[in-house]
Amino acid sequence: MNLVTATSQAIKGAGAVIRDGGLVAFPTETVYGLGADALNPLAVVRIFEVKNRPSFDPLIVHISELSYLEKLSSSIDRKARKLIERFWPGPLTIVVAKRDTLPDIVTAGLSTVAIRMPDHPVALNLIREAKTPISAPSANPFGYLSPTTAEQVKEQLGDKIDVILDNGKTPLGIESTVIDLTGQLPIILRPGGVPVEEIEEIIGDIKISKGYSKRPHSPGQFPRHYSPRTPIKVLNSRKLKTPKKAGLLAFKSPQKKLSYKIVEVLSSSGDLREAAANLFSSLHKLDKAGLDIIFAEPLPETGLGRAIMDRLHKAEGG
Ligand code: TXA
Ligand code: MG
Repeated sequence: MNLVTATSQAIKGAGAVIRDGGLVAFPTETVYGLGADALNPLAVVRIFEVKNRPSFDPLIVHISELSYLEKLSSSIDRKARKLIERFWPGPLTIVVAKRDTLPDIVTAGLSTVAIRMPDHPVALNLIREAKTPISAPSANPFGYLSPTTAEQVKEQLGDKIDVILDNGKTPLGIESTVIDLTGQLPIILRPGGVPVEEIEEIIGDIKISKGYSKRPHSPGQFPRHYSPRTPIKVLNSRKLKTPKKAGLLAFKSPQKKLSYKIVEVLSSSGDLREAAANLFSSLHKLDKAGLDIIFAEPLPETGLGRAIMDRLHKAEGG
């Protein structure tokens, strides 16, 4: 394993690793991804092995230039173009019809592909150096918390990855919003870094998928996902219970002293952006504290709050 600071030299080297069919963990504005050459099926298979990810869970293809789009998809319609223009590079993933040239393993055999252009210089330069689109899930074992630092990647998957590019904590801290544009009405498959309200402003009506099925349409919809190993429970009200060896994930600074073993505050001022950025790091800390249970305070379900609550509900098991 090879954790390196993401200098331009290191990114160049990592690009060569991708071209040679290797695996590189890299920062994006959302979370760290585990990348491989999207056009090399043997390289992509390794992602599934390393993450222990079911092969029916498709990957997001990350691109650095719009010119890659037409090579991946034949159906970029008006709504897709509007969204791309407004939100790329950025935390929005669009699901569109795929071209046959893209290996089936990337999309788990689906006829659609998820694509995004990340808003992070390291990610963009890595794709440019690799000279190929990079398929990458979050760099965590399947079902576990997404990593927002290179150390978390190293702890979880370090010995199985060729290079980890370290660029500190990821700024946004929550994964991209995934929107399916293949039907009449666009469907949000996963709330994320771009708030649903902002998408509606651009393309009008959208549907928010609440489907939790056994073999989900979009596997980010597995009922239990994004989970710490410690059981977690979202509190129904702001009234807080305090049993033994319990930790609290608090939205804002608590008003009074609480008897939890450990309290992680997402944002002292109650800012949703800051809360999203701290979500996975705080959960990682609580998960390492030897607790019997983690209680999580509910957050307002607007803007990024919707994405945060989605992760908390999935962490507790749907
Ligand atoms: O912010 C992010 O999106 C991060 C960074 C690394 O880009 N990536 C990420 O990837 O969160 P992953 O694999 O952990 O989540 C991708 C989600 C999954 O829920 C997957 O099922 C869904 O996107 N997805 C991918 N391709 C799809 C497709 N063709 N149709 C429906 N859902 C798809
Ligand atoms: Mg993931």
